[in-house]
Amino acid sequence: MANTIATPNAPYNTNLQALIEYPEKGILSKVILKDENCQYTLFCLAKGTDIEEHTSARNATVMVFEGAGKLTLNGEEIPLTPGVFVFMPAHAPHALKAEENLAFVLTLSEQPQVKKFVSPETIELIKSTAPLLKKQGQQITSRMYEIMFKNHPEVKEQFNMNDQKDGSQPARLATAIYSSATHIDDLEALKSMVEKVAHRHVETHVQPEQYSMVGESLLEAMKDVLGEVATDEVMAAWKEAYQLLAEVFIKREHQIYEQET
Ligand code: HEM
Repeated sequence: MANTIATPNAPYNTNLQALIEYPEKGILSKVILKDENCQYTLFCLAKGTDIEEHTSARNATVMVFEGAGKLTLNGEEIPLTPGVFVFMPAHAPHALKAEENLAFVLTLSEQPQVKKFVSPETIELIKSTAPLLKKQGQQITSRMYEIMFKNHPEVKEQFNMNDQKDGSQPARLATAIYSSATHIDDLEALKSMVEKVAHRHVETHVQPEQYSMVGESLLEAMKDVLGEVATDEVMAAWKEAYQLLAEVFIKREHQIYEQET
């Protein structure tokens, strides 16, 4: 990747047409400008270049101004011709093929920041329900897997089903959720748990977009098991806490996936 052409603290203008150079094969990219929030990169792809399916942790846009190609975004094929503008949300799987020499600007937007805390009301509600989780944690997580495997049977492939049958995986998840509940205001204390689980998740190819499925199944299971205790306020607090935890895992897993490639 070329060095950044412009600095963010001085005005800059250019004609992108003048920066286009196609390699004989593959991709030539030039970072036009990069500040702490965004990165603007000119991509020049030689005819025939394929970029295999991958995801990005940041929102991105593609602005095509020369050539022809095909973008596959979330399974949908989008023809790339001059003037086409595409928004690609973070974590959306995408692949690209240059059918002719193809030039576009890719803008990566702000790095998603992991929130460091939830509101004081949420902390209080989470901590007040933690003892229940200690007592009924495994019942909740067993129910959670039941709901998830019924609604999304394809996900079973990622799990060791013996550890489901003997209850050891629901027990591990219950312990992780209980310690998350007791340390929701001190994420540093969860670091070793997050590290171990994130590595296991990468081994089993867990993807960012799977977190909402697990979150929905978990919240439904909590309602089923906790009954009246699961008031709207308690459920809203758990939703917020789960999102925070999911962001922590997604960020760490993204780093591990990146190190592996
Ligand atoms: C905040 C949410 C989550 C928490 C707290 C969590 C927690 C855990 C824990 C404690 C383990 C056991 C790690 C060990 O081997 O010691 C685990 C494993 C695993 N998790 Fe998660 N997880 C979460 C989200 C997800 C998501 C979204 C998926 C996607 C399907 C997932 C799939 C798996 C799989 C496949 C394993 C390996 C299980 C096996 O070996 O059978 N988890 N998780």
